[in-house]
Amino acid sequence: MSALPLPEQFRIFAQGAARDGATTYDVICRGMADDPDMLALIAEAPLRQRRPNLLLAAVHFLLLAGARHPLAAYYDTVQSIAGGPPGAPGGDLVAEFKDFCLTHRAELLALIAVRSTQTNEIGRCTALLPALNVIAAGDPEGQPLSLLDLGTSAGLNLLFDSYGYTYRQRTDGAVLPAGRPDAKVHLECTVRGLLGDLPPLSLPPIARRMGIDATPIDPTSDDGAHWLLACLWPDNLDRFTRLHEALAVARTTSTPPEVYRGDIVDELPAVVERIAPSSPLVVFHSWVAAYLSPERQRELVDTVRELARGRTLHYLYAESPVETPGLPTPPSPSPRPTSHLATALVHLPADGSPPVRLADMHHHGNWLQWWATAPDPTVRPGEPEPAPRPR
Ligand SMILES: C[S@@+](CC[C@H](N)C(=O)[O-])C[C@H]1O[C@@H](n2cnc3c(N)ncnc32)[C@H](O)[C@@H]1O
Repeated sequence: MSALPLPEQFRIFAQGAARDGATTYDVICRGMADDPDMLALIAEAPLRQRRPNLLLAAVHFLLLAGARHPLAAYYDTVQSIAGGPPGAPGGDLVAEFKDFCLTHRAELLALIAVRSTQTNEIGRCTALLPALNVIAAGDPEGQPLSLLDLGTSAGLNLLFDSYGYTYRQRTDGAVLPAGRPDAKVHLECTVRGLLGDLPPLSLPPIARRMGIDATPIDPTSDDGAHWLLACLWPDNLDRFTRLHEALAVARTTSTPPEVYRGDIVDELPAVVERIAPSSPLVVFHSWVAAYLSPERQRELVDTVRELARGRTLHYLYAESPVETPGLPTPPSPSPRPTSHLATALVHLPADGSPPVRLADMHHHGNWLQWWATAPDPTVRPGEPEPAPRPR
């Protein structure tokens, strides 16, 4: 819950949207900030749910679910699903938004009362893929990995091996394709540094896919899919289209993840117990620990370390170091100043050796700077160092 008065919340939200080039929400939120009818509508919601992003997501949700209203013409995302032309129709967006809200007042309040905004960013799989390759390469027996995604949302990142990837070297545009060449979902990632710095990018065999989330989303239901899509912003068609395609993959996959509802710290031991101890396990999370207090972050790490005593367990996370002081993130080799969105990809190996900062990455996986050299699986301990890989 924000302590700020609602008009202030709308104005701050508008500024953020303007900074991100999200014109639709910028205009709407500036219009809502001083509108007494709209402020009165939101004031009917439970106190902790009175937030601009929840109202915006609820409106977007009803439009995606098929509500007919002139407002739909202003949402590129809704137009893309309905097959209409993108681009603003040139009327009064704020007036249409307000009319929609007052017309659908009861449905909106019902949604706002119980929902929370939620995302599942499959772009982060551009970091997960090389990290899992590092882990798989370290297992001389090449056993299939079991995956456990903490804060899995709709479990879409557990389907990383259903997607296609293009890694593009920033300096000269050289590309490295990976993943499934026939994939319906394609992820692009700019590589800072050299493509040759990345580990091999094959698809490691996966034994089990599991997740835990406080409010898991069922990607196979219309309600779940529409809510997840509705929490994206209507101007960002690329991100929306990618998620839409990933949801289609989740609907038809032959390997749906097993997802458990609960708190990631409290439920972790019981869920790990369901996984055969002989199966090498990767416990990972991305942009989840920031929701925990630093103390709870430390409890999470302690719980993982305790579980790692009894089995082969790798711990991997992609989190903002600024937001997660309770995680054992090594400092970045980069001299750049870090923002709260800057994200570190960290691996705590199963053998108990110290954490490795594998990479720095964009919070949605748009770019990756790989730091750690991958172990070469063809070299056995005691053999001489391999010659540097071609770059
Ligand atoms: C920003 S989303 C990230 C989802 C996904 N990991 C990704 O990278 O796209 C955060 C997710 O963590 C979940 N979450 C936050 N705190 C949690 C907790 N203490 N226990 C379980 N799930 C939690 C939320 O429900 C939400 O699905």
